[in-house]
Amino acid sequence: MAKDVIVALDFKDKKTTLDFLDRFVEKKPFVKIGMELFYAEGPSIVKEIKARGHKVFLDLKLHDIPNTVKKAMSRLSGLDVDMCNLHAAGGSEMMKAAIEGLTRADGSRPILIAVTILTSIGQETLEDEILIKKDIKSVVGAYASLAAKSGLDGVVCSPLEASYVKQVCGDGFLTVTPGVRFADGEVGDQVRVTTPARAKELGSDYIVVGRPITASDDPVAAYNRACKEFLA
Ligand code: C5P
Repeated sequence: MAKDVIVALDFKDKKTTLDFLDRFVEKKPFVKIGMELFYAEGPSIVKEIKARGHKVFLDLKLHDIPNTVKKAMSRLSGLDVDMCNLHAAGGSEMMKAAIEGLTRADGSRPILIAVTILTSIGQETLEDEILIKKDIKSVVGAYASLAAKSGLDGVVCSPLEASYVKQVCGDGFLTVTPGVRFADGEVGDQVRVTTPARAKELGSDYIVVGRPITASDDPVAAYNRACKEFLA
């Protein structure tokens, strides 16, 4: 199974993003485009970055009625993204519709992964606001299992949940994990973090790394370090 380091392009506009990517002359990293950059620049930013030779994870976290998600996904598939995502809380019909929308005429489609419970949601919020009176870990497992049964390829989760998700859904079910920091780096606003080397041990398939690379004085060296620790 392909494992890789995905760089989160959390930049405000095209110029900042392309100036950053210009530094990568040898290996073109797999990158993540999130809502901020996509909403600022539109679909053309995806096309431009793809044309430069990068794989793209488009992180738009769709969540709507099945028909709307199906049609939206067919648009994203047409942008030739390599990975995209939705909220498992939209239910199995929505997830199946998403796969239909993503599948191209030749039968190929981008990798589709689900967000289970956002890592910003704690046990108290889950119970008091979302009204799910269950342990978060079991809810993450149940949503991951629903995503797997609906035909999705994996989930976004904490590296610390990766082995549990594999236990519930099988080894081939992908875990894409943010919350990664170098052992000697700053944690910032992330709480449950781990190093690239530990994420590898825990069974992550893809690590998503933002600021440890984007805010580094030498982003290429930081990217190479993440690759060395995670892929070696
Ligand atoms: O800068 P940092 O490495 O914390 O960036 C992590 C990236 O992963 C950001 O784009 C963030 O939005 C995203 N993410 C996350 N936690 C999740 C889902 C996505 O940090 N549960």
